[in-house]
Amino acid sequence: MRIGILGSGLMGGKLGTIFARAGHDVVFSYARSEQKLKKLAKDAKGNAHAGTPAEAARDADALLLAVHWSRVDDVLQQAGDVSGKVIVTCSLPMNADDTELVIAHTSSGAETLAQKIPGAQVVSAFGTVPSEVLFDVFAGRRKAKRPSLAYCGDDPRAKKVAARLISDTGFDPVDAGPLRMARSLEPFTILIARLAYETKGGPALAYRFERY
Ligand SMILES: NC(=O)c1ccc[n+]([C@@H]2O[C@H](COP(=O)([O-])OP(=O)(O)OC[C@H]3O[C@@H](n4cnc5c(N)ncnc54)[C@H](OP(=O)(O)O)[C@@H]3O)[C@@H](O)[C@H]2O)c1
Repeated sequence: MRIGILGSGLMGGKLGTIFARAGHDVVFSYARSEQKLKKLAKDAKGNAHAGTPAEAARDADALLLAVHWSRVDDVLQQAGDVSGKVIVTCSLPMNADDTELVIAHTSSGAETLAQKIPGAQVVSAFGTVPSEVLFDVFAGRRKAKRPSLAYCGDDPRAKKVAARLISDTGFDPVDAGPLRMARSLEPFTILIARLAYETKGGPALAYRFERY
């Protein structure tokens, strides 16, 4: 697939690199320096390029939205018309100092995003894990027991695309249902972040659901 990365920081930089190494065509966009985007593309060692958000969006089968909540409007404006596109978002609706969700309970960041771009198909995915674990999960993708990754969305085709990317990254995709389930997924991420960053053991944390 051709994947446009909107926001090439901790999440977008790593996921874009993994997608390229998994064989996808990747365009890294939206960082404060073009040099950084070029370096990411070079280091990905796959079929990856640096571009503008508009170039990342053009012909993309999917776009990964990975910016701080405060940058969502700006990057979408730079991306241009995203009607008909699959938008996989890991962006959480956090306040400026990343301590609290600014949307919760009665809506979610993912639903708010979907309202901003009604012609696009939004899936919430990857936001429930810290960036620090991504390369380790990819490296362990052939292990029998994969960590879970919950995702949600309303459009079946978009969810299929997201599940493929989740699987290519080394996770077991867990379909959590419609996009409104982001009301539960986003607060769950606060728990994961607390465990990752504020308890012993380090931030390379993933989770696995098991049925008995
Ligand atoms: N980090 C995590 O572990 C994690 C986990 C789950 C969910 N999330 C969510 O994922 C989203 C992305 O998080 P992140 O940690 O990847 O953020 P990040 O490292 O700060 O990356 C954001 C990207 O946006 C770019 N950017 C910011 N302001 C810009 C501007 N004015 N013009 C152009 N580019 C600009 C940054 O540029 P530079 O590269 O130049 O800084 C960076 O490439 C957030 O919504 C966060 O809540 C993060």
